[in-house]
Amino acid sequence: MIKCVYPGSFDPVTSGHLDIIERAAAMFDDVTVAVLVNKNKKPAFSAQQRMDFIKRSTTHLKGIQVDSFHGLLVDYMKKRDAQLIIRGLRAISDFEYEFQMAAMNAKLAKDVETVFLMTDISHSFLSSSMVKEIVSHGGDITGLVPEDIKNDVIKYFCR
Ligand code: COA
Repeated sequence: MIKCVYPGSFDPVTSGHLDIIERAAAMFDDVTVAVLVNKNKKPAFSAQQRMDFIKRSTTHLKGIQVDSFHGLLVDYMKKRDAQLIIRGLRAISDFEYEFQMAAMNAKLAKDVETVFLMTDISHSFLSSSMVKEIVSHGGDITGLVPEDIKNDVIKYFCR
């Protein structure tokens, strides 16, 4: 069975991420959504909260696991015995960064492959930072994040 990892910061998970997760789940039996714990970044939501948001957004899907990791992605892939990295491409501007990352990961681990899924066009403008920016100014994030977590994202910024 092919084991896949969809890594990212997911701070917070957006409808664009969920679109990628749903499509990966339709193609592969074993998909782990892996939240990066990056000590150099100060996320709005803790790794635990980000994982909880993803879990609550994916209860309708089979074969999805949610985990966190730190360090190199290829080391985490090895630990999980996973062969495929899934990444979403929103626009041509994503390509250069993703191309570099895929090439570097392939160099670091020869048995690891990266598969790109095109983010649905309706989410191609979306990012986690944009969601945080909109909600912090009291804007409407309906449709931008999974409905199951929307109120918790709003609550966080209205503390
Ligand atoms: N829909 C909506 N938004 C999306 C999206 C989609 N389908 N795909 C990506 N995004 C947005 C995210 O919301 C995020 O927005 P933000 O910058 O406003 O927070 C941005 O695109 C970056 O996305 P993300 O997928 O979280 O990537 P990342 O750059 O934070 O992390 C890792 C990428 C985790 C894969 C990479 O940093 C990594 O592997 N790190 C581990 C260390 C390592 O191995 N490094 C060597 C790699 S060569």
